[in-house]
Amino acid sequence: MKYTFVTLFSNLIDGYFKDSILKRAIDKDLLDINYLDPREYSKNKHSKVDDTAVGGGAGMVMNPQPLYDALESLKKKDENVHIIFVTPVAKPFVQNDAKRLATKSHIAFVSGRYEGIDERVIEKYADEVFSIGDYILTGGELASLVICDAVSRNIDGVLGNSDSLTVESFETPLLEAPSFSKPKDYEGLSVPSEYLKGNHSKIRSLKLALSECKTRFFRPEQLLKHRTRKSYEK
Ligand code: ADE
Repeated sequence: MKYTFVTLFSNLIDGYFKDSILKRAIDKDLLDINYLDPREYSKNKHSKVDDTAVGGGAGMVMNPQPLYDALESLKKKDENVHIIFVTPVAKPFVQNDAKRLATKSHIAFVSGRYEGIDERVIEKYADEVFSIGDYILTGGELASLVICDAVSRNIDGVLGNSDSLTVESFETPLLEAPSFSKPKDYEGLSVPSEYLKGNHSKIRSLKLALSECKTRFFRPEQLLKHRTRKSYEK
């Protein structure tokens, strides 16, 4: 998978790949990370990339010209590039999107700064637009990284153990059951005894019950989805 981060602040992103699990995937050529700085495409004599909002409003908005030219050059080099804009004004990014996007050959993430990006750029170039949650970040770089990370771990070979992909939260509507490591007793707190007895069918049903408990507490709407799916399967 090739990724291109279209950003004014590549340093914000670059550091992440130096220490994450994804570094191994980059070394194995499973991931190829690239950057495109819209400022380098600015035709303004001071390389300006933003301006005040037409019609008023707080803050600076990124101008269309540098982004148009940057994205045009990207598309000229690879007509299959899938261009994603990140903004709080979008559909929420979910695990199914992560799985679906893992089959692309080249994804470009466009990160806005300031108050946002001129809407005409999004209209012209976006294949998809995502928000990573109902809160406002200072810029899109973190959101782009979040999506890139979630997509990458669904690419064959990126994670060592592909088992960890199938049993985790959001692969089903239920949240994952709690995990424990050694020792069995720590500071007077024990691992649930069923986990220790080795009866795998009992462990599975206990994990299912604990999953349902966690889901009821943290994400009751997901439990409803699980129950509807179960009754549909019957
Ligand atoms: N940029 C700022 N906030 C964001 C969010 N919640 N999701 C995606 N991009 C953003």
